Amino acid sequence: MGADDVAPVVAIERRVKFDAWRGSDFQRCLDAGYVCPVAETAHGVIGYGVMSLADDYARIANLCIAPDRHGRGLGRMLLASMLHEARVRGARLAFLEVRAGHQRARKLYRAAGFRDVGRRYGYYLTRSGWEDAVIMARPVALRGPAASQPAGTQARSTE
Ligand SMILES: CC(C)(COP(=O)(O)OP(=O)(O)OC[C@H]1O[C@@H](n2cnc3c(N)ncnc32)[C@H](O)[C@@H]1OP(=O)(O)O)[C@@H](O)C(=O)NCCC(=O)NCCS
Repeated sequence: MGADDVAPVVAIERRVKFDAWRGSDFQRCLDAGYVCPVAETAHGVIGYGVMSLADDYARIANLCIAPDRHGRGLGRMLLASMLHEARVRGARLAFLEVRAGHQRARKLYRAAGFRDVGRRYGYYLTRSGWEDAVIMARPVALRGPAASQPAGTQARSTE
């Protein structure tokens, strides 16, 4: 993700999430050197992820696919790309928070080797009130399902 990608990324974010990140949130992540891969076609950005690294830890802070592209393996691909980068940079443990009721995302993370390790009560603001976050983690070196890139889609990162 580069500065030029922030506007299309925020447009997807707003279509998909109630508590959407703002452009300044993404810009701060870029300025801090977070790992921010995007998936794109010739027509533009269709998905993105954000991961921070500190000491031995990698935190997947965002993963989002454009709604008309769901269910085609792109989320799995971006997740695998971030985990690969975490391994290259020497992280040992990857973790993330996910809405407790978000079964699709929890299934994606479980399939990639993440397990539930904790809960943050009332962590997310939703249309109907506050929702718990489930904290999930996995060893970075664990072999997850192989990432495959669908035809016509490229993943690139900030580096
Ligand atoms: C969650 C999200 C990232 C998944 O991305 P995706 O590209 O649609 O998912 P994929 O096609 O890579 O599917 C990977 C796995 O997710 C699960 N999954 C995907 N679509 C699903 C569906 N409709 N129902 C249930 N599980 C589903 C499955 O485990 C799937 O693996 P499988 O195909 O082997 O069964 C995507 O739905 C999204 O961007 N949602 C909005 C933003 C968001 O909530 N992000 C997560 C924040 S933690």
